[in-house]
Amino acid sequence: MESNELKKKNIQTSREEIDYGSVNLRKVAVIGCGFVGSASAFALMQSGMFSEMVLIDADHDKAEGEALDISHGTPFARPMKIYAGGYDDIVDASIIVITAGANQKPGETRLDLVKKNIGIFKTIIPEIKKRDCKGILLIVANPVDILTYTAVKLSGFPENRVIGSGTVLDTARLKEALGSHLQVDSRSVHAFIIGEHGDSEIAAWSSANVSGIDLNDFCEMRGHYNHHEAMEKIANDVKNSAYEIIAKKHATYYGIAMSVKRICEAIVRDEKSIMPISSMMHGEYGIEDVALSMPAIVGKNGAQGKVPISLNYDEITKLQESAKALKKVIEDNKPFE
Ligand SMILES: NC(=O)c1ccc[n+]([C@@H]2O[C@H](COP(=O)([O-])OP(=O)(O)OC[C@H]3O[C@@H](n4cnc5c(N)ncnc54)[C@H](O)[C@@H]3O)[C@@H](O)[C@H]2O)c1
Repeated sequence: MESNELKKKNIQTSREEIDYGSVNLRKVAVIGCGFVGSASAFALMQSGMFSEMVLIDADHDKAEGEALDISHGTPFARPMKIYAGGYDDIVDASIIVITAGANQKPGETRLDLVKKNIGIFKTIIPEIKKRDCKGILLIVANPVDILTYTAVKLSGFPENRVIGSGTVLDTARLKEALGSHLQVDSRSVHAFIIGEHGDSEIAAWSSANVSGIDLNDFCEMRGHYNHHEAMEKIANDVKNSAYEIIAKKHATYYGIAMSVKRICEAIVRDEKSIMPISSMMHGEYGIEDVALSMPAIVGKNGAQGKVPISLNYDEITKLQESAKALKKVIEDNKPFE
């Protein structure tokens, strides 16, 4: 099939509008209050977006401690009820952020976490399903693409309501690196990391630009001419940045916390922002039955359709290889059984 034909395929099988009569737009839940969950909860408190936040952790004392500590910041932000709770407390949350799970230890890949964290999801997702929660599940724990797929299959929820943070963080890392390389505001850089949030991720250079100016042209304006070398180094640095941070401080959490806050903002404000979240693929670029990151429109109903950015042959091939690597993990681990 021609690449254009492949990218035109953009079918989302199960979609459902969220009933904001039964879901409280101002209520968020965070499951897992370790480094990532607590940093995300802190960022969400500071944002003033929500008036109620429930924290759940297998270690209830930890959730209580974080709830108290974070709530003491509210006089400097906005009034907000923050408490440690259980699954009955999250039924009407508009967004349920799931960060529960083991994190990478130095030298481990994200895929090394797969067995442990699928096991944890098999305890969490049925609790959410049982209560027929109607909000959006935002999966953050790793390997995020595999766990997004797991959450889709175990919950049976419409696919627009189950999204992964995907390569939103990697894309932020790419923008930050390009912004500092080119001495320009990273918000003016438009570039995506797509595919797996992990070792097979792809920098989609062929669609990258700085405020509409082709990336290579902008580089030359800024005195950089070794495009191939620079792109390779930046893409590798982005891919390896989690390993570097984990080697130095044993966890990464601030960047992902800001990513969680940004995704929640796009949902709560129905921004229809384009973000590389992880969601189910249905034939786009010949890829199906796997969740991975492609730019998608994000708003009050979660994932509202993918955006077919232009990719060259090499990028499409790498995207298909990334999907193949993820499918192999799914076949080996059968997370839905
Ligand atoms: N998607 C991303 O971009 C991204 C970035 C950084 C980290 N992560 C991932 O986020 C996850 C959490 O990382 P962390 O550094 O916060 O780890 P952590 O070990 O500090 O925290 C994990 C928390 O989950 C809790 N937990 C475990 N099982 C649970 C269960 N069944 N129910 C409720 N809570 C449970 C633990 O008690 C712990 O508090 C890891 O999988 C990590 O790889 C993802």
